[in-house]
Amino acid sequence: MGGSSPFKDRSNSQHSASFSSFFWRYLTYTVYAILPIALFRLYFYPLPLPQSPTDRLPLSDHILVAPSLSSPPPAEKAGGDATAEAPPLLLPPPAPPVCDYTNGKWVHDKAGPLYNGTTCGTIKDGQNCIAHGRPDLEYLYWRWEPHQCHLPRFQPIDFLQLLRNKNVAFVGDSMARNQLESLICMLSSVSEPTLVYTNGEDNKFRKWHFAGHNMTISVYWSPFLVKGVEKSSSGPDHNELYLDTVDERWAADLGWLDMVVLSVGHWFLHPAVYFEGGSALGCHYCPGLNHTEIGFYDVLRKALRTTLKALIARTRASGRSTEAFVTTFSPSHFEGDWDKFGACPKTKPYQEGEKLLEGMDAEMRKIEVEEVEASKADAREFSGFRLEALDISKLSLMRPDGHPGPYMYPFPFADGVKDRVQNDCVHWCLPGPVDTWNGILLEVIKRWNGGETTE
Ligand SMILES: *[C@@H]1O[C@H](CO)[C@@H](O)[C@H](O)[C@H]1NC(C)=O
Ligand SMILES: *[C@@H]1O[C@H](CO)[C@@H](O)[C@H](O)[C@H]1NC(C)=O
Ligand SMILES: *[C@@H]1O[C@H](CO)[C@@H](O)[C@H](O)[C@H]1NC(C)=O
Repeated sequence: MGGSSPFKDRSNSQHSASFSSFFWRYLTYTVYAILPIALFRLYFYPLPLPQSPTDRLPLSDHILVAPSLSSPPPAEKAGGDATAEAPPLLLPPPAPPVCDYTNGKWVHDKAGPLYNGTTCGTIKDGQNCIAHGRPDLEYLYWRWEPHQCHLPRFQPIDFLQLLRNKNVAFVGDSMARNQLESLICMLSSVSEPTLVYTNGEDNKFRKWHFAGHNMTISVYWSPFLVKGVEKSSSGPDHNELYLDTVDERWAADLGWLDMVVLSVGHWFLHPAVYFEGGSALGCHYCPGLNHTEIGFYDVLRKALRTTLKALIARTRASGRSTEAFVTTFSPSHFEGDWDKFGACPKTKPYQEGEKLLEGMDAEMRKIEVEEVEASKADAREFSGFRLEALDISKLSLMRPDGHPGPYMYPFPFADGVKDRVQNDCVHWCLPGPVDTWNGILLEVIKRWNGGETTE
């Protein structure tokens, strides 16, 4: 079982096998997928789930082992070559090394967040932990300290000034929304935006205008980035993805977007049927349907490739420039049953080395980072396009204390501690660790703009 994909080693499996034998045979392979599915059913279809043995399996039974992708070493000129070609004194001074924000530790910080649920009206209910009565507040007082550099506190005014007259979009699933709301709240602490557009169930498409800086920030719901049909109570009970077609619900607006932050991942774990080139390519967890199980790793890769190719092609065609980020996979932290009290009970970050990025979390991140690097190479000659992975997987993994848990609902224990309670150990409390994602985002934007700040 050393392969990176749990489905790689499967020889032509007999789909005629009864569901239950199929089920038990591949139970270990699908454990990691089933709990997130249960969870997402909970978010989007809050119906009681059938009691099945899998409900009781702890998520920690991850079986995947994937090599973690270490960041490439900084490019170094061999000393001998450099001196052979020119005297050292004539060389330009070396550029300051680019900070690697991915590795570091969480340290105590008295300063606390820039906002709360009272000062910002844009926090989705399920993530408004303070307003929902979460009693411990220590999780608000941590700062990410990268090993080799300093990550400054987010300065809203820097973001507003660097993106003056620009249109910014967050595109993806509920993690994209989580990150967007954190940014809107931090910016709101200095400049109140106007909500100028809202559409879709649950306000899945929204746009704000920051009049003082003539900047807009939008959010687009597109959980696969490519065209897809989401499972629904009236439609299919699985998702359908068209891997070679970008989702026009957001891509049609690329002509006026200056910066795009893409964030997907968790929806790829759902049961789904995949299409490519006009025909079915395979599926993930679709017993009863006549499709080959292909898992979701290669599917995520193809979806990202299609998306980034479309971004580059349309930017070229428009004659404008686009800056893009791919936020990497955000790990969840279920320690036991998703519906039991204390599903993610920790109240402190992990210390360095206490928890390693591994299994599915590591594999999803690796695919995203690799596809970003491949696209950067594709667009190397094209100065109108800039792309970076916003690599938050590891720093987020170290924050098991940052999720709403039972406080996804207001005062869940108002009438006593219950045995069973729904928990959200996937999304993040706002304020919370996601604020740091946007801190890194701003630092990369500053670097792109020649390191200028307004301080
Ligand atoms: C929210 O922040 C404001 C301003 O900093 C403060 O006055 C208020 O007490 C805070 N509310 C909560 C619930 O922490
Ligand atoms: C605001 O920004 C848009 C580009 O997003 C630009 O076309 C427009 O001229 C700007 N308006 C002002 C008043 O600067
Ligand atoms: C299942 O798919 C195979 C190959 O595409 C096809 O030959 C077969 O007829 C299909 N069976 C059913 C029941 O649709």
